[in-house]
Amino acid sequence: METYKPSPIPLCEPYLNGREKQYMAEAVDSNWLSGGEFLRRFEQQLADYTGAAHVIGASNGTSALQIALTLAGVTQGDLVLVPDLTFVATANAVKYLGADPIMVDIDAHTWLMDLDLLQDWLQSHTYQNHAECFHRESRRRIKAVVPVHLLGNVCEMERLNAIAECFTLAVVEDAACSLGSFRLGRHSGTSGLLGTMSFNSNKIITTAGGGAILTDDEVLAKRARHLITQAKNHPIEYMHDELGYNFRLVNPLAAMGCAQMEQLASFLQKKKEVTAHYRRAFTDCGAVFQQLTPGTDSNNWHSAMLVGESRSLITALAAEYIETRPLWTPIHELPTFRQDWYISRENVSSEVSRRGIMLPCSTSISEEQLQRVSQIIKSFLNVSTKN
Ligand SMILES: Cc1ncc(COP(=O)(O)O)c(C=O)c1O
Repeated sequence: METYKPSPIPLCEPYLNGREKQYMAEAVDSNWLSGGEFLRRFEQQLADYTGAAHVIGASNGTSALQIALTLAGVTQGDLVLVPDLTFVATANAVKYLGADPIMVDIDAHTWLMDLDLLQDWLQSHTYQNHAECFHRESRRRIKAVVPVHLLGNVCEMERLNAIAECFTLAVVEDAACSLGSFRLGRHSGTSGLLGTMSFNSNKIITTAGGGAILTDDEVLAKRARHLITQAKNHPIEYMHDELGYNFRLVNPLAAMGCAQMEQLASFLQKKKEVTAHYRRAFTDCGAVFQQLTPGTDSNNWHSAMLVGESRSLITALAAEYIETRPLWTPIHELPTFRQDWYISRENVSSEVSRRGIMLPCSTSISEEQLQRVSQIIKSFLNVSTKN
């Protein structure tokens, strides 16, 4: 006898039910593959939507960050402040430049970089020399700070920018997961010197793999295009005037992005409903949700919450064919970064990571699937709180 197996509920699937195939076929038919009309159109759509003066498509969010940090002046031996709870790419991009990250613990409520902690630490651990910031202990330059708008929640950028100005730090916003998130009327990724985005397949819109660099500075925008096209400075001759990269977004993938942008409003609406469902379902069960910073209108990219301990819940859900994930491992706990500085008072990031669970939140998730997920979680939480 066959045993009943419920249909699996994935964590966060892409939704490609618009004009993706049509536009990608048009891109292929045009024979313009590396660059082309769809790339220009996608960049313009992003600029119009976010309000950034310049948007440059990139091969992914990580390469976009690497270029943005380069443009911010980060070089070999520098230090860069990043939040301790983020996807590893934020810290990896710093390492690619021969610099090292300093991890800053997160706020217990917003799960974003703790700005009180950042300010106190900068006051007591740095000094200025020729209008640059140096770390007292190592005498290394601290060149930049990278706020990450985690899960769609936007950092208090006016405060972060003021701190950065006071301590002469460049601000590069990692807005990989916050397309569609606004705060006080500004789109995420447009308040610092540069911002970056990801269109990885689990993001709110996808180009399969892709990213973007955002800036209001025309000179930086030109240099970003130059660096991502191997720093070639002659239309015919193979003249490359500095170390460049092959980090461009290609035309057929940008075509997918154009079709995805046409659906962004409906994706945002669905994500809002999914988040509201989980908040309604679990708040009385003792689950804790991320608190938005005042003035944030989140894209609700990924639903997540804290429970007593998330790993046993993740295992229980997997047995029911429901895919969930823990929140990221704090950067300071990863082998590559164990030698780097970690600024913390109470190690909030480890606690949030230990208790955090990312819930199924595909744009295509049905009401029935949401009910199934929440019923199983509710009975698990009731059981585990009674034990
Ligand atoms: C916060 C954050 N930064 C950077 C990245 C890197 O983006 P990508 O995967 O497109 O390289 C991601 C996502 O994957 C991310 O979530």
